[in-house]
Amino acid sequence: MKKLIQKTFNKNTLVINFRRMWPYVKPYWFRALLGILLTIPVGALDGAVAMFLKPFMDKVMVDKQPHFSALIPFLIVGFTIVQGVLIYTSNYLNTWVAQKITIGVKRKLYAKLLSMDTAYFDKSNSGTILFRYSNDAEMASTGLVNNMKEFLSRLFSSVSLVGVLIYNSWQLAVIAVAVLGLFIYPMTIVRKKMKEILTKTVGNLSYVMTIYNETFAGNKTIRSFTLEETFRQRFEEVTNMTFSLAMKMVKGTNWLSPLMHIIMSIGVALVIGAGSYLIVSGRISSGNFVAFIAALMMLYTPLKSIGNKYVNIQNSFLAIDRIFEILNLEPTIKDSETSKELREIKKNISFDHVHFEYVPGREVLHDINLEIPVGKTVALVGNSGGGKTTISALIPRLYDVQKGAVKIDGSDIKNISQQSLRKQIAMVFQDNFLFSGTIRENILLGNPNTDEQTMWKALKSACLDDFVKGLPQGLETEIGERGILLSGGQKQRLAIARAFVKNAPVVILDEATSALDNKSERVVQEALDNLMKNRTVIVIAHRLTTVQNADKIVVINDGKIAEEGKHEELIKLNGAYAALYSMQFKDRRPA
Ligand SMILES: Nc1ncnc2c1ncn2[C@@H]1O[C@H](COP(=O)(O)OP(=O)(O)OP(=O)(O)O)[C@@H](O)[C@H]1O
Ligand SMILES: [Mg+2]
Repeated sequence: MKKLIQKTFNKNTLVINFRRMWPYVKPYWFRALLGILLTIPVGALDGAVAMFLKPFMDKVMVDKQPHFSALIPFLIVGFTIVQGVLIYTSNYLNTWVAQKITIGVKRKLYAKLLSMDTAYFDKSNSGTILFRYSNDAEMASTGLVNNMKEFLSRLFSSVSLVGVLIYNSWQLAVIAVAVLGLFIYPMTIVRKKMKEILTKTVGNLSYVMTIYNETFAGNKTIRSFTLEETFRQRFEEVTNMTFSLAMKMVKGTNWLSPLMHIIMSIGVALVIGAGSYLIVSGRISSGNFVAFIAALMMLYTPLKSIGNKYVNIQNSFLAIDRIFEILNLEPTIKDSETSKELREIKKNISFDHVHFEYVPGREVLHDINLEIPVGKTVALVGNSGGGKTTISALIPRLYDVQKGAVKIDGSDIKNISQQSLRKQIAMVFQDNFLFSGTIRENILLGNPNTDEQTMWKALKSACLDDFVKGLPQGLETEIGERGILLSGGQKQRLAIARAFVKNAPVVILDEATSALDNKSERVVQEALDNLMKNRTVIVIAHRLTTVQNADKIVVINDGKIAEEGKHEELIKLNGAYAALYSMQFKDRRPA
């Protein structure tokens, strides 16, 4: 018996899922309970209406007592009005609670999303993120509340109706309830099938969202490469998949409703057969019989539409599963309990025998040893895909190294709190990300406490002040999603201004000057030179001046340090740098 109870509790997903969701329900438990309790009389009133049929039949139809006929219609309408008010109130409360729970879950999921490390985002695609962090929360919470409500109101309605059945004829009740038992087996078969299809459906829907996203973000590429047909086909394929999954679902589950119908009719047939015998033999009145049949119909009717409801229930349970999968994720990069705040970098940043791989088994950095002294500029040069951007990403600990350590003043950055580490570093990326909003808002993201004067100083240093002054709306100009309304050079300079106001002692620059024409390159260069003054700089350099003036040049080829030294030294060495220099820089003059 104990085992059986345990088994039901483990297997009963309603109970399990409710337990898991409890922390999110808890703050609103009173309203949730009230909303659900109100469904008790709603269900139970079903029984009351059926119950009236017996006295009506017996007293009015058989005994011809007219005063009953006056009372009963009023009672029936009265009960239905009460039921209506209760339904309204409980729907209101349940929606309120479901919304609150959804928002609670979404906030928690979003906080989790923000805590995940860069590698997680590298591996995920935008559709999956949208689906799992937003849709699932909705499906889970709304589903949970609705299922709870549905389940409880059905339960109470069934209890009251079964009460009516037993009251009117226990013999017939036994038959009716036994037939009800036949419903269980087909439902378990369907559940297994559904789970499989629903999981595939989620994958499919996530992919659809990714396509929308890429169509949005990549619309220029699509147009210029005339990829419309390719994307249309891709979309057609996934929507075909959507269709076939939906049909599979119908095929796999929709036989449930007709089957229920057949089982029901068997139940009704048995009851009518046995009922006639009981009436004839005088054991029940015809009123008993009519009330019984009415209650039986009410009991069976909801089961007719069980097919669709069941899909919804399983859907929300699977959504809950997925939510908890996410909530149980742990970011691989975490502050340790003993991590310290970094206040100042006194001596240097160093790489100590660093090995790194993005994908297990494919090492992209091999045994990197490197010192970046405070106040100096270190330039990274080398072949494309050699690992320069990767090295720069390890300093703010966007990824963790597999072997060796990145150190600040001799201590591993894993012992420093991530936030305090990153506060010391301003980054200008190869592909800068600007957020939708105004120029001012984007600069403030670098430092929310920037005053007007500092802001203009930053704009001036980023060679952007003339441009902003010339805009009719100045600092309040909207720059569009991802800064799409700005030119490439303006975007870059805005990113530089954002880095300026952060005023961090360490600056990491991933130069992307190749994207710019000569004139804007010169302007961006001036902005970058301004940003580099009096700071510790790690620069991935493509520009001659930066390279030549650097305190140290490090040549990274295929994940290894090939050479390092000053410009003249490396030229004299006549090795990798000299080759790169003559190939890349020989036609260019310092600006
Ligand atoms: N997020 C990632 N996941 C897996 N592999 C990656 C990732 N980012 C880069 N790589 C791989 O790591 C290697 C080093 O890339 P990295 O971006 O550091 O090169 P780079 O020296 O900056 O090149 P470039 O000069 O072209 O910018 C490349 O082989 C690249 O394919
Ligand atoms: Mg790079």
